[in-house]
Order: sequence, then structure tokens, then C-alpha cells
Amino acid sequence: MALVTGANQGIGKEIAKKLSEKGIKVIGTSTTINGVKIINQYLKKNGFGFVLNLKDTDSILEKMKEIYKKNYSIDILINNAGIKSDNLLVYMNSREWENVIKINLTSIFYMSKSVIRSMIKNKYGRIITIGSVIGSIGNRGQVNYSASKSGLIGFHKSLALEVASKGITVNIVAPGLIDTQLTKKLNILQYKKHLSNIPMQRLGTTKEIADAVMFLSSEKASYITGQTLHINGGMYMP
Ligand SMILES: NC(=O)c1ccc[n+]([C@@H]2O[C@H](COP(=O)([O-])OP(=O)(O)OC[C@H]3O[C@@H](n4cnc5c(N)ncnc54)[C@H](OP(=O)(O)O)[C@@H]3O)[C@@H](O)[C@H]2O)c1
Repeated sequence: MALVTGANQGIGKEIAKKLSEKGIKVIGTSTTINGVKIINQYLKKNGFGFVLNLKDTDSILEKMKEIYKKNYSIDILINNAGIKSDNLLVYMNSREWENVIKINLTSIFYMSKSVIRSMIKNKYGRIITIGSVIGSIGNRGQVNYSASKSGLIGFHKSLALEVASKGITVNIVAPGLIDTQLTKKLNILQYKKHLSNIPMQRLGTTKEIADAVMFLSSEKASYITGQTLHINGGMYMP
């Protein structure tokens, strides 16, 4: 069974749909009842949605325990949910910093912790987290977002080392600029500036990200771990 956070829209929805089309049962999360309804609608009988707010770190372990109590076992964890809250450092307040770090980075600790024991027991697992090109190149106005996304890189490398011998792979997919609600928030100047940095001269699609996640979650990627796969139309080449 797979669990995808933030599965009601954008990249997470595309990933959850693709997993479900492959016949994999999916639990999709949203912060709202309405989001859960959307997830239940497209998953039909092949899984279900449930409310999870990653900002509330205490509730993550509790909610995940509930899932295991119902005898569901997660062997594919997709940490997709993420937010941005942009501001120049001089204007950024501690709430803007803490929310982004909590949701984009700290929650990954709790989510991974709650699935790892059962993955070790089953000698199989896939953990894939959606990072960002900004974690590697930085961006003005995004000290919080880029810190959260580069923090993921160290986390995933370390966890990959800890569980490599247990049949568990741990990787990051790092998108460039993808056409979702997140990028719709960009103003026209920001949008044009970003586009001028993309050699392919277009935004990526949610499908292009979901395809890479499908590959990493499959048997075909069994020898790939601790990696960050960049998908950005040539915007950044490590
Ligand atoms: N779009 C891009 O260009 C781009 C580029 C690089 C990286 N990324 C990364 O890709 C991931 C998905 O982004 P997207 O573009 O698909 O964004 P999106 O359309 O804005 O969707 C964000 C998702 O995250 C969930 N979420 C937000 N706050 C949450 C919280 N407190 N607890 C749990 N879930 C929460 C939302 O659920 P609700 O709607 O239910 O609140 C929603 O499903 C993020 O990690 C983002 O950083 C995106």
C-alpha cells in the first residue's frame, strides 16, 4: 500500500492517480474534508483519503498509528505535501520560518519514523520525497523554503545509509518549475524571470514528476538510493 501526502491536488494528486492506475492501493492525505472527498472520488475503491495536517507534528504519529491499527501496511511512502511562505530575510517573521520548516522538513522525520519499522520488518520499502531545485540553488525570498528542501538531502542520504541493507530505498525527486497552484501564485515578473532560466522554455507538468516517482517506486529502481533526481528542463545540472 502507498501513502501520498497532499494528494488532493497538484503533483501529489497525479502521483496518487498513477499509483492507483498501477493497481497499488493508495491512502491520500489532505488538510481538509473537501480535499478528502476529492481523493475518495478519484481513487474510487482503490484506496481512500484521510485528513492529516503536517503542521501538527504530535498528531502525525497518532494518525499513522491509527492506520497501522487498521492493519494497513505502508510500503511506499510519498512525502509530497509542501508549502512556501516567501519573504526576504529582513522581513521574514519566525512564524513564516517555522511553518515552512515544520511542514516541509520536520514532518518528513515523523512520517518516515512511523513507517520505517514495518518496512524493516517486511524487508521492503520505498520512501520518496518531493524536494525542489531551490534546495540546491537557493532563491531570494526563500531562505525558509530552500533551507527546508536542502535539509531533506542530508536526511535522505543518512536514512538511505541506515536502511540500505533492509531492502528499503530512500530518494528525493527535485522538481524545477511545475505547473500547479503553487506556481500560479507567482506574479508575472517572477514567472518571466523563472522562465528565462529554463533552457526548455516551459514549465514542467505534474505528469513529468509523477512518472519519475513511479519509476523510483518500482522494482526497476531497486539499486537506486540516497539520490536526488532533478527534473527541471535543464534549469540546474548538478
Ligand atoms: N509546483 C512547483 O513548481 C514545485 C517545484 C518544486 C517543488 N515542488 C514541491 O512539490 C510538492 C507539491 O507541490 P504542488 O506544486 O503540487 O503544490 P500544491 O498544488 O500547492 O499542493 C500542496 C499540497 O500540500 C498539502 N499541504 C499543504 N499544507 C499542508 C499541511 N500543513 N499538512 C499537510 N498537507 C499540506 C496541500 O493539501 P491541502 O490542499 O489539503 O491543504 C496540497 O495537497 C511540494 O513539496 C512542493 O514544495 C513544487
